[in-house]
Amino acid sequence: MNLESLLHDRLAPAFAAVAGHPVDPAVRASPHADFQSGAALGLARELGRPPREIAAEVAAAADLAGIADVAVSGPGFLNLTLTGDLIDAALRAAAADERLGVAPVTAPERIVVDYSGPNVAKEMHVGHLRSTIIGDALARTYEWLGHDVIRVNHLGDWGTPFGMLVEHLVDLGGGSDHSIGDLTAFYQAARVKFDTDDDFRTRARLRVVALQSGDPLSRDLWRELVARSEQYFLDVYARLGVTLGPDDFAGESRYQGDLDAVVAGLTEKGLLTESDGALCAFPAGFTGRDGAPLPLIVRKADGGFGYAATDLAAVRHRVGKLGADRMLYVVGSPQRIHFQMVFAVAREAGWLPDDVIAEHIGFGSILGSDGKMLKSRAGDTIKLAALLDEAVARATAPAVGIGAIKYADLSGDRMGDYVFDWDRMLASTGNTGPYLQYAHARIRSLFAKAGSGPGEVAVTEPAERDLALALLGFEPAVRAAAASAEPHRLAVHLHGLAMAFSAFWERCPVLRAEGSVRASRLGLADLTARTLHTGMFLLGIEAPDQI
Ligand code: ARG
Repeated sequence: MNLESLLHDRLAPAFAAVAGHPVDPAVRASPHADFQSGAALGLARELGRPPREIAAEVAAAADLAGIADVAVSGPGFLNLTLTGDLIDAALRAAAADERLGVAPVTAPERIVVDYSGPNVAKEMHVGHLRSTIIGDALARTYEWLGHDVIRVNHLGDWGTPFGMLVEHLVDLGGGSDHSIGDLTAFYQAARVKFDTDDDFRTRARLRVVALQSGDPLSRDLWRELVARSEQYFLDVYARLGVTLGPDDFAGESRYQGDLDAVVAGLTEKGLLTESDGALCAFPAGFTGRDGAPLPLIVRKADGGFGYAATDLAAVRHRVGKLGADRMLYVVGSPQRIHFQMVFAVAREAGWLPDDVIAEHIGFGSILGSDGKMLKSRAGDTIKLAALLDEAVARATAPAVGIGAIKYADLSGDRMGDYVFDWDRMLASTGNTGPYLQYAHARIRSLFAKAGSGPGEVAVTEPAERDLALALLGFEPAVRAAAASAEPHRLAVHLHGLAMAFSAFWERCPVLRAEGSVRASRLGLADLTARTLHTGMFLLGIEAPDQI
């Protein structure tokens, strides 16, 4: 039962009657009462009446079933206190339901979540790590809410670097695993040759042409490189407990056959302009610092296609073939303008209809303790596999180490940067992954000692009531996280729930209580464990019964 929406439904008719039109009562959980509505404040100017008077009139007109007390407070808030019966009924309904009382959405959308998107033959960097963690939490959450989620891993598997990589592989005598060796070292060796050896550079350029025109040997070697990289990424996903699988790879190469059609479509609409030999789109509303229109380069002067062309083709495909209602691109904030321009051009071209939502889900950087971009001790980019090894080595259990990294990434507003600090993220107290995991495991171990299962919940003590409201706040938190694509809204809620549980635990004896009180407290404990477990599942964090 979603108490916020229940109260919304109780107050909305009264607000509408007073205002003469529909009004969102804006009911929120509140520290001053159970819930609070601030809508009277917003109406005061429009109606030319004091907000307190409006609030009082709404209170008098509203259906107050399940509401023990309604009071006008401060400048014109309505403070709402629920009856114990309503709270008990809501808790029992949640306890009796696998889904904790959270109904699937009535109008499921097809949501494409584009996340992770690492580049072949390159190490995944921490930006890819954030995309992977945040994107996976979002995909899990939308799916659990009943949406039809399509995960897309837009792998960087095409473009000019592959001439150099394939040519280097040829030099090493073919595509056996042995000759590729460590992918990062392989990439770096190819790079060095490309930068220092004229002959190699020429061959690499010819190799790009051969690859793009479908030369079988070049294709085979390229495929070998891609396959090796995919395997590496899949290993990382498995270690992270990320739901991306082999079928979700849809790299840039997939769209190469569509790029001529992209150019033709844009040309037909008169959206392409030649600029220094390149074909560019200039979507309305994008200008540089100097006020000049900003180009989105669709075809480069050398005839090659780049990142933007591929993304335009991908939009066309996702809307036209996959039937997306909504597309989320979980990619670092530096690519914000790129996506805004791609979406704008796609709308102008008619590939992105008004009723399809395309959103760039940006995020900030991970910083080292020096406040600069996170680097390894040697000063180069951090290897993700090494980072995960270290997390596991530092923690009491693999699930705790990985959970700590993921939770640190998900618990703050994604747009902000955060400092990667092992001690802080692995701490068993505070707003951390391990804190939630221990809280959950402690409740599970309680049942081993209890000798009996959860009973029917009946809330009486204040600490029980606080815990109850935190439990019932789960649904609004999940829906808020989904609405704004902000997993931290759920993470913060779970942390509050775990704290409410520990306050309850201190004040209300469970195992030493008797009869129906004991049964009810075990019921609260069980519902807490299940809610933490489900919430952590949505964030992609393991919640073992024992740690
Ligand atoms: N490979 C890109 C990068 O490393 C990320 C891909 C994001 N997705 C997309 N549709 N452009 O920056």
